[in-house]
Amino acid sequence: MRRTRQHGMSNRHSSRNGRRNAGNGRSEAQPLVDQRGKQIQAFGSVVRMPIGLESKVCEQSARQLNILLADTITLRDMYKKHHWQVSGHTFYQLHLLFDKHAGEQDELVDEIAERIQLLGGIAVAMAHDVAEMTRIPRPPAGREEVPVQISRLLEAHELICKSCRKIAEEADEAGDDGTNDLAVSDVLRTNEMQAWFVAEHVVDTPLVRAK
Ligand SMILES: [Fe+2]
Repeated sequence: MRRTRQHGMSNRHSSRNGRRNAGNGRSEAQPLVDQRGKQIQAFGSVVRMPIGLESKVCEQSARQLNILLADTITLRDMYKKHHWQVSGHTFYQLHLLFDKHAGEQDELVDEIAERIQLLGGIAVAMAHDVAEMTRIPRPPAGREEVPVQISRLLEAHELICKSCRKIAEEADEAGDDGTNDLAVSDVLRTNEMQAWFVAEHVVDTPLVRAK
């Protein structure tokens, strides 16, 4: 107050200035940290979006896509684990291949998650929630042999491929063409292709001398 009087400011101006400083010397430019509040949408619920689909259809697709998302996040992370931990004669090519597949799975993660959101749902995101939802068995934290790494990847791919076909079929019946297209054109096709590239590494053919 003493300062505003010195500059000849009106009481009205003085009070606005007082709010800016909140009476505690805090500037408007001060970042407001440590904030918490209520959730604005519960996980598992669906808000109505203007895309011409009934809420029950959006809810069904979002629920199925969330499981697919959890599996895809897990497969992406398993590819990274194997990218880092791979060993042996084929280290270099598998190191590169696993990273390429991880990158492609990461793109699918974003596509699936954003479709869940545009359907009005909430995409599962954090690792502990993903771990509870995924159907892919948890690998050990330690390092495994290459054939075991590949077996785990192929099992995950097959699980996801089956899931895609089921989601696509039910989305088609429900009239959710976008989910059908995502499940087939993006997720299924990518997983089928990756399964082929990985599976050929466990065909037991001679390297030098024919049998
Ligand atoms: Fe890397």
